[in-house]
Amino acid sequence: MAKLLKKTCTFDLNLTKVGVLSSIIQDYVMKNLNDTKSKFIERTYLIMKNTEEIQKRKTFAIISHPDAGKTTLTEKLLLFGGAIQTAGAVKNNKIKKTATSDFMEIEKQRGISVATSVMAFQYNEKQINILDTPGHKDFAEDTYRTLTAVDSVILIIDCANGVEAQTKRLMEVCRMRKTPVIIFINKMDREGRDAFDLLDELEDILKIKVRPLSWPIGIGGTFQGVYNIFRKELNLFAANKTKISEEVISIENLDSEELDEVIGNKPAETLREELELIEGVYDEFDRDTYLAGDIAPVFFGSAINNFGVKELLEAFLEISPAPRGRETNEGFIQPENNDFSGFIFKIHANLDPKHRDRIAFLRIVSGKFERNTFYNHVRLDKKLKFSNPTSFMAQDKSIIDEAFPGDVIGLYDTGSFKIGDTLTEGNTFSFKGIPSFSPEIFMELENKDPMKSKQLEKGIQQLTDEGVAQLFIQQPGNRKIVGTVGQLQFEVISYRLEHEYGAKCAFVPKRYYKACWMTTDNQAQLEQFIRAKSIYIAKDKDDNYVFLAETPFLLQMAQSDYPAIKFHFTSDFKVGQEV
Ligand code: G4P
Repeated sequence: MAKLLKKTCTFDLNLTKVGVLSSIIQDYVMKNLNDTKSKFIERTYLIMKNTEEIQKRKTFAIISHPDAGKTTLTEKLLLFGGAIQTAGAVKNNKIKKTATSDFMEIEKQRGISVATSVMAFQYNEKQINILDTPGHKDFAEDTYRTLTAVDSVILIIDCANGVEAQTKRLMEVCRMRKTPVIIFINKMDREGRDAFDLLDELEDILKIKVRPLSWPIGIGGTFQGVYNIFRKELNLFAANKTKISEEVISIENLDSEELDEVIGNKPAETLREELELIEGVYDEFDRDTYLAGDIAPVFFGSAINNFGVKELLEAFLEISPAPRGRETNEGFIQPENNDFSGFIFKIHANLDPKHRDRIAFLRIVSGKFERNTFYNHVRLDKKLKFSNPTSFMAQDKSIIDEAFPGDVIGLYDTGSFKIGDTLTEGNTFSFKGIPSFSPEIFMELENKDPMKSKQLEKGIQQLTDEGVAQLFIQQPGNRKIVGTVGQLQFEVISYRLEHEYGAKCAFVPKRYYKACWMTTDNQAQLEQFIRAKSIYIAKDKDDNYVFLAETPFLLQMAQSDYPAIKFHFTSDFKVGQEV
């Protein structure tokens, strides 16, 4: 079977994939022994066709600390893909840094981020899906969820600032999920830090091994370009914001005089020494180690000048993973599996408050999604069909008839979906791993208009389903504790509760340090803890108990008094570390 598949496939398949494919076809044969020969051929053809589509796709996110150059790099990638024609076409998807409480900015942000949530384009026969992540730290939770829907990431570092706070947190999520990461060190046209120091900092702070695949010649005023270690080419820098090609000279042998002629004796000597050092210090680049999330290849460039972007894109296409499967409560689902399945990782409210419909973003994991076909909404055990599923090609939204694993599509929703919901062709499994992280700020929600308590109840429920904030319910009295990563969400919530649901609320600050999810092998001890600490216990959206610890000290006390209980800062215990 494997040999036959390898022979008949017109596309590139590695041996693991051939193995997966054969087992899927064998599984199909075993379950459908009575099928006619023609039915068998048709099904096999569909499986192969799906696999071809999967191999074409790359779904990833660009992540960075605000201002490192995410918008700029995204725009340049779209320019290469021909998805946009002019620079400046991608709106800066970030809230003005000074404005912390400008509702119009919040609204603008919501509008812009629908348009730029997914940017798809074709390049070298590949379908590239870039998922946008909000740069503002108050929307970090949204970014973490988006990371569950991608197969790899490009992390941008500003060469002058090195690793920044947001970079560290984003990288923690990638590490938890074992997401393959490529690092792009940006703004090499400006004065910045020594490249070796930057690499050391990446390894120390981000706790990932790195491997430079290109190397800068000078920096800022002395920046002459990069040597592409992967291709053995010299890419010469010329500041240019619009041209998308660079001067490339092939230099196989670093000892050749041509190198001295092109960049000068001293820089050539430094480059030779530095490259020798790199070969001595860093392991050979190994794609499998990168795919396992254990090593991050590093590139240098200047996004604004279109420099190093093409080589980044081409290396990315060569080494980054095709769409991967996902874990469910009933086992792992491979993308080649013929039955459609996918999960919702983001929900966006309509900008127009008169229409309460929302867009739910679905990442397709396996099989083929088709318009106007009934699918199973697993949590509700309900059949739903979608007449206007949308795809996003740069700034344009268009209705699609079919979509494949790795694709992200928008589904119009009138309130059926929650973040993390699974859609299938009929199966009843649910995808795992859209974790909730402990919020940083907690407030109790107070109703300011007793006549509108129903509206408030519905509003807060729907907003938390959308993932704007987390809701914890405390007893007695059904008290609602709202938890967020940043202050901005509270403003978004009160604004939206009032404008979309007609409910008025106030927030009373609660001095909690963290929300801790709990696991134990000793149920009796857990029950005893819940009774003893009842005023600090609440339930999350899935009815799990959480401990709202007021201080790190009180958490430590709980750990030592109740040693059989494990406390976690994330709801996904498999990926999240114990506190
Ligand atoms: P972000 O999405 O990560 O927040 O960053 P963004 O792309 O908006 O870039 C932040 C600033 O850094 C922008 O300048 C942008 O022009 C600049 N920048 C991006 N790449 C490079 C580069 O390679 N070299 C240099 N020198 N600058 C770069 P700004 O002044 O904040 O905005 P704008 O007025 O240029 O739009």
